[in-house]
Amino acid sequence: MSLEKIKKVGVVGAGTMGFGIAINFALGGYPAIISDISDQVLQQSLQMVRSALALFVEEGLITRQQADDAIRRITATTNLAEVAANSDFITEAIVERSEDKRELFNKLDKLCPPHCILASNTSSLVLSDFGSEVNRQDRIVITHYYAPPHIVPGVEVAKGPGTSDETFDTTYDLMKKIGKIPIRVLKELPGYLLNRIQGAMSREANRLWAEGVASAEDIELGVKATFGFRMPHEGPMGHYDLAGIWKWPEDARISSRSRQVSGAAELSPEADEKIRQRMMQGKPWFVDPERFEQAIEKRDREYIRRLKQLYRPAEK
Ligand SMILES: NC(=O)c1ccc[n+]([C@@H]2O[C@H](COP(=O)([O-])OP(=O)(O)OC[C@H]3O[C@@H](n4cnc5c(N)ncnc54)[C@H](O)[C@@H]3O)[C@@H](O)[C@H]2O)c1
Repeated sequence: MSLEKIKKVGVVGAGTMGFGIAINFALGGYPAIISDISDQVLQQSLQMVRSALALFVEEGLITRQQADDAIRRITATTNLAEVAANSDFITEAIVERSEDKRELFNKLDKLCPPHCILASNTSSLVLSDFGSEVNRQDRIVITHYYAPPHIVPGVEVAKGPGTSDETFDTTYDLMKKIGKIPIRVLKELPGYLLNRIQGAMSREANRLWAEGVASAEDIELGVKATFGFRMPHEGPMGHYDLAGIWKWPEDARISSRSRQVSGAAELSPEADEKIRQRMMQGKPWFVDPERFEQAIEKRDREYIRRLKQLYRPAEK
């Protein structure tokens, strides 16, 4: 189904994630119907929508008019058939249990019109865990938001074994249209892309704490004040560029990389060789080597702005 055919959306599960997911769609102009098994949760959820949008207005992110329009677009029901009948794209954000998600996906598959795309916000399961019985294998997909989903911009869009390219592309375009930053995950694997990267850091942090290398406080502060400080500007690939590691002599590049991976998850020989080959090229991922100095100046200006915001220099 093309993006233009999506006119109305549904969100099933109106808890911590559901209400924020609905806000994204409503601010993006889509009528959004939210649903839950509990009417009390739905009422709380509508209240959370109002509070979240009031904060957006107070902080100058949107106007009062935009907030009111978004609130008007969000309706609520405990009747799943009503959601199914009024949605071209449904996101489930119910409890993280594969049996519950399986039951819901199977019900929605029967209730929804054939063109409707079913998306899941599961954080640790994959579509094969609960989506294998639906008939519309080509129209199921993962959209993995990060809490709070109406504020954190990135959303992973991940395929299941049967997800069609059309569904994948339409979902990606839909996320863009509502102002999110979609990230494509091209293969089905637990943890998708970013929870795996985040998980690798958490595993190592816990290990260093347990081995007495540093206190929890110092690990926390260290991450926030060093590479965490840089992260809004550069991720692991961009850092390779901007720290100028691509300019190092080949032996230094390769040994730095192997020091970083020692003790971490085992790499397959193929992946290990692929990374080694890439490092041997001695070229940045994104930066134009001819414009390296300009990229550094741009970075430094942004860092200084953030330094002033986060860690105000002491008054003279
Ligand atoms: N909380 C997070 O930080 C986070 C981040 C990313 C993804 N997720 C994922 O989002 C999903 C929801 O997480 P949450 O934190 O919002 O949970 P939550 O417990 O706050 O909300 C889940 C809601 O689903 C409702 N529900 C349960 N079964 C239902 C059903 N069959 N039909 C309709 N509603 C049903 C519950 O009443 C509850 O209100 C999970 O899959 C979770 O893994 C959570």
